[in-house]
Amino acid sequence: MKRHQATLLENRRLGPGLYSLQVEFEDLGDVEPGQFFEFLTGARFLRRAFSVADRDAMRLRFVLRVVGKGTAWLSQLTEGSKLNLAGPLGQGVAMPSEGPVMLLAGGIGAAPLLYLARKLNEQRVEVDALLAAGTKEELILTEEFGSLCRKVILATDDGSCGQKGLLTDILPALPAINDIQIFYACGPESMFAALKRLDLGKPLYAFLESRMGCGTGLCMGCGVLGRDGRYHRVCTEGPVFNLEEIEL
Ligand SMILES: Cc1cc2nc3c(=O)[nH]c(=O)nc-3n(C[C@H](O)[C@H](O)[C@H](O)COP(=O)(O)OP(=O)(O)OC[C@H]3O[C@@H](n4cnc5c(N)ncnc54)[C@H](O)[C@@H]3O)c2cc1C
Ligand code: FES
Repeated sequence: MKRHQATLLENRRLGPGLYSLQVEFEDLGDVEPGQFFEFLTGARFLRRAFSVADRDAMRLRFVLRVVGKGTAWLSQLTEGSKLNLAGPLGQGVAMPSEGPVMLLAGGIGAAPLLYLARKLNEQRVEVDALLAAGTKEELILTEEFGSLCRKVILATDDGSCGQKGLLTDILPALPAINDIQIFYACGPESMFAALKRLDLGKPLYAFLESRMGCGTGLCMGCGVLGRDGRYHRVCTEGPVFNLEEIEL
């Protein structure tokens, strides 16, 4: 596992409990959409995992939602702070050769899909995005997706921005859905379960999260049950899986 001492260039609040961190590395090789880094946080012994949300040369962007002590600690760091990171970890997404592709983001799930949108854009694969969140304040990265996608559809549970309803209520009625060749989704487990029930008839790749232990495939702490009856490690075999192959 490659370790880095990196510098926090910017820590910006995006919404309630939501922060964007720009981190500069001294040495950074290839980083693929879907891969993640583990951060040492002053508050916790075990590292905390965050997906790469974007890249510009030697700078990576991470977007985090505060849920506990580790994320609260990171959210309070000031510019110039030194960070101890390990990565990139996990397998990158298998990139499609043709589109159109649709990205399905629930809340903070927009983070890793933004980097995928950038890479699809570079490869001239047409990409649409459906971004959903609880409220307008929790809808993030909308401008960034707007600059990379053919179409961006917004939705909120309370109707304060875009269409009103859950992502899985809105998706089946979208006119573009019949042309989509492949879906990529990131969001809460309940969203994946509902997507599975929709049975879209096209491949759907899910960016999964689980509690991380070692982050290197040794402890099995991050296992998710597959339809083959085996546990698959999110940290080394994932974090992106074909939704059909995972039990939810
Ligand atoms: C591969 C991967 C990529 C991730 N990418 C991002 C990202 O880009 N942005 C982001 O905000 N978060 C991301 N996460 C989740 C993030 O790692 C956790 O929110 C973080 O570790 C919580 O640390 P904490 O000390 O603040 O909370 P803790 O005090 O450890 O936990 C607080 C609460 O959050 C829950 N929780 C903690 N970790 C996870 C987890 N991994 N999955 C589900 N629930 C959890 C706990 O059950 C508890 O209820 C990712 C997780 C994985 C495995
Ligand atoms: S976190 Fe230890 S095997 Fe994945």
